Amino acid sequence: MKTVYLDNNATTQVAPEVLDAMLPYFRDLYGNPSSMHSFGGQVAHKIREAREQTAALIGASPDEIIFTSCGTESDNAAIRSALATRPEKRHIVTSRVEHPAVKALCASLSHQGYRITEVAVDKNGLLDMDQYESSLTPDTAVVSLMWANNETGVIFPVEKAAEMAHEHGVPFHTDAVQSTGKIPINMMGSAMDMLSISGHKLHAPKGIGILYVRRGSKFSPFLIGGHQEKGRRGGTENTPSIIGLGKACELAVMNMDRENTTVKRLRDKLEKVLLETIPQSRVNGDQVHRLPNTTNISFEYIEGEAILLLMNEYGICASSGSACTSGSLQPSHVLHAMGVPFTMAHGSIRFSLSVFNTEEEIDFVIETLPPIIERLRAMSPFWSSAAQACAGK
Ligand SMILES: Cc1ncc(COP(=O)(O)O)c(C=O)c1O
Repeated sequence: MKTVYLDNNATTQVAPEVLDAMLPYFRDLYGNPSSMHSFGGQVAHKIREAREQTAALIGASPDEIIFTSCGTESDNAAIRSALATRPEKRHIVTSRVEHPAVKALCASLSHQGYRITEVAVDKNGLLDMDQYESSLTPDTAVVSLMWANNETGVIFPVEKAAEMAHEHGVPFHTDAVQSTGKIPINMMGSAMDMLSISGHKLHAPKGIGILYVRRGSKFSPFLIGGHQEKGRRGGTENTPSIIGLGKACELAVMNMDRENTTVKRLRDKLEKVLLETIPQSRVNGDQVHRLPNTTNISFEYIEGEAILLLMNEYGICASSGSACTSGSLQPSHVLHAMGVPFTMAHGSIRFSLSVFNTEEEIDFVIETLPPIIERLRAMSPFWSSAAQACAGK
């Protein structure tokens, strides 16, 4: 059975060119980039090249790039650095819909005495800018707002939010894990001070990330050790993955147009046909300010997990917005913050595409999913009572 992979916000396929770029650095070129000999020196040279490739994707200077182990480390390093360099400030501004890499860190910091403001979103998942502005105080140490939401793809106006933070003298961090490679990013001339990237969301391997830190910003390292990354992140470099990420960033520059044409067209087709053919379905999240690859659709009165299991039988991979698998029946905190009704939030599915998806795959999902929904609804007591109510019985 062929796999139809529509879960690219969870992780992506390593691009063949990325794997090819990495393999020699496992097999033959295993030197330590810090070594004095040229066997290590050639690896250091390749890391410099990867730093340039990654900087080019986001309009940064190579010296503003710190390689980390993942998006989570980058988020943690950014927020903890801001707190360490401004120890007198005890307030953090973030949003209600952040990824756990920020949300859970802030929850943990709240137990250490920090005050956290989680700015609300509206029913479309857009940030409440008035509440955001009024939450910035002289005690605010840092703002951390995601650029694009991993569940809905909704994009926050981070450039504007960063300017507003600066007007209050507050440094600004953005979690750009989902936006990098999908929408243009240009740090030159931007007010954003720090930005997190994760390799495995853009066709590089898992276990590699980037923290961008604007030149001249104060920075306090998260991992203290050797002199690697100019003392900003100790630990021998993950050489093959850094080189792979460099290649992935080079490919992302070339593929940016396709993300916003081909991928967007396939996403739009999937969304339009599913909404037309499946009653009581709707898209969660703003449809204008949204990543080109993501759609989060609710199918009312059924469980997302059940839909995923049946799609899995056909080789279709997607994600659910509810969290029954984790032992709780709570719908996702993102849909909850948006006020999505319970019966809708539980039946939500996130489809996230990439440049590797084809029209045939989308047509297959369009054909396969409606009967799955019909079958599940036929078994749902909520659906039959809703249908009876509609029929006036
Ligand atoms: C928005 C966002 N931030 C952070 C992360 C964490 O990235 P990583 O898996 O590289 O730690 C993810 C991963 O899903 C994400 O979607």
